[in-house]
Amino acid sequence: MNQPLLHTTVLLNEAVDALLDPSHPDAATYVDGTFGRGGHSGLILSRLGPNGRLVAFDKDPQAIEAAARITDARFSIRHEGFSHLGELPESSVDGVLLDLGVSSPQIDDPERGFSFRFDGPLDMRMDTTRGESVAQWLEDAEAKQITEVIRDYGEERFAGPIAKAIVAWRETRGPITSTSELADLVAGAVKTREQGQNPATRTFQALRIFINAELEELQQALAGSLRILKPAGVWW
Ligand SMILES: C[S@@+](CC[C@H](N)C(=O)[O-])C[C@H]1O[C@@H](n2cnc3c(N)ncnc32)[C@H](O)[C@@H]1O
Repeated sequence: MNQPLLHTTVLLNEAVDALLDPSHPDAATYVDGTFGRGGHSGLILSRLGPNGRLVAFDKDPQAIEAAARITDARFSIRHEGFSHLGELPESSVDGVLLDLGVSSPQIDDPERGFSFRFDGPLDMRMDTTRGESVAQWLEDAEAKQITEVIRDYGEERFAGPIAKAIVAWRETRGPITSTSELADLVAGAVKTREQGQNPATRTFQALRIFINAELEELQQALAGSLRILKPAGVWW
């Protein structure tokens, strides 16, 4: 892509206002678990005391690349899931911010394979340096597993027929490698239409949640936050 993919931070002021201690302690420490393109991190840094700390996390190597441009000594970033935030020292953090989901640079880049709106490789990993892509997982997942993922994470009524169609495609045409192949196949298996919604919406959402272990990440981050937050610390 030649154009930089832009990200507009959602609830920028609201989230940072809620996170930061209004008494602005000089040495407060905050965690931004979802750096993205650093909208929240930038505002936190602009309001942080001289001895404050901001520790950020992101799974996405492109987010890490963007963060490398920040030269502020109070800032550091870890290329790992926010499930690791519990590894920070106990009762050391004043606030944790998680801005969940995918960023626009991820969803709008066909090469990342998150969207049925563009044709691209069927990947959907937030961290492209490790783990299986959706295409790799679908190569040999059993119909039962596929059904469960699409039903449980996408609340898709047609999870069974979609899983059957995936397996039938695999057996006759080989691996499903692109977003448009999956979107077309799902459209053929979903027998009703929700107004204004692509029939592949629920399936794509389910596979993204599954392949990135989003619920497990969140569960661990919640437990970790309880350990690292100071008494009266903020979770947003
Ligand atoms: C909605 S965007 C965050 C945008 C950010 N607040 C900003 O202002 O630019 C979500 C980001 O969180 C990252 N992410 C999602 N789940 C994650 C996880 N479990 N661990 C670390 N990063 C994660 C994604 O890679 C993406 O960059």
